[in-house]
Amino acid sequence: MIVVTGATGNVGRSLVQALAAAGERVTAVSRGASQVPQGVSHRQADLGEPESLKPVLDGADALFLLVAGEDPRGIVEAAGAGGVGRVVLLSSQGAGTRPEVYRHPLAFEDAVQRSGLDWTILRPGGFDSNAFAWAETVRSRRTAAAPFGDVGLPFIDPADIAEVAAVVLRDGGHAGRTYELTGPASITPRRRAQAIGEALGAPVRFVEQSREEARAQMLQFMPEPVVEGTLAILGEPTPAEQRVSPHVEQILGRPPRTFAEWAARNIAAFR
Ligand SMILES: NC(=O)c1ccc[n+]([C@@H]2O[C@H](COP(=O)([O-])OP(=O)(O)OC[C@H]3O[C@@H](n4cnc5c(N)ncnc54)[C@H](OP(=O)(O)O)[C@@H]3O)[C@@H](O)[C@H]2O)c1
Repeated sequence: MIVVTGATGNVGRSLVQALAAAGERVTAVSRGASQVPQGVSHRQADLGEPESLKPVLDGADALFLLVAGEDPRGIVEAAGAGGVGRVVLLSSQGAGTRPEVYRHPLAFEDAVQRSGLDWTILRPGGFDSNAFAWAETVRSRRTAAAPFGDVGLPFIDPADIAEVAAVVLRDGGHAGRTYELTGPASITPRRRAQAIGEALGAPVRFVEQSREEARAQMLQFMPEPVVEGTLAILGEPTPAEQRVSPHVEQILGRPPRTFAEWAARNIAAFR
């Protein structure tokens, strides 16, 4: 049985579907009540309270772990005690490129590496689904605002992260590996807004925010050091952050999906 935390999220939802479609027994975990595909069981637990995970992890073979809560050691101990053999951690590219800022995912990486379980770490860059932040203004005004309009990054489709996670959770041969996950090419915010317009069949006007405007907006839902780290990645990415990684294609045997494909699949949110 495979336990998927973050099961209501952009990655977790697709992962639960992929595993269930492959015939795996899946337990989907989130803090609140949630709809899950037929045949999947759902359990409520909080990664911030590792005790709440114990009954969920008891008897599980593998765990897909999200970075949430403050006690990664408590989580991996609960996994080990429950008999989990394999853990796949959804970390972040920043853990490798900006370790001084991304301490939280790094602490989770450290805990799984010391856990004694077979571990695999996924380090994705920015998600295509971050464009959902534009949904309301695209629907109401056909505008999309972001800073650094002409700085490109290889954003990734969360469905590709989920497919990679499904392979790694099901197959042996990935233990002790850290995979960098990116999309197929760099794409700028301006071009992403244009791609949403193309999928919509109506132009979307890109509005370039100042760094300060973006900072004020991000501070509403992210802690200050993470806002600074995110702005630095978006505005002054390092060569490592701009690089297209081969790992998605190596694992899935096909190139990563483009942003245009993500936009077409999710266009209902922007209508
Ligand atoms: N967005 C990016 O650009 C980016 C880039 C690199 C890495 N990441 C990492 O990827 C992760 C997943 O992203 P996503 O887009 O799938 O996130 P998301 O859509 O916001 O989903 C987050 C999921 O985490 C669950 N969750 C949050 N806190 C929890 C807790 N304390 N205990 C149990 N479950 C909890 C939520 O479930 P409930 O609220 O229903 O409990 C939800 O299912 C992020 O958390 C981040 O660490 C994101």
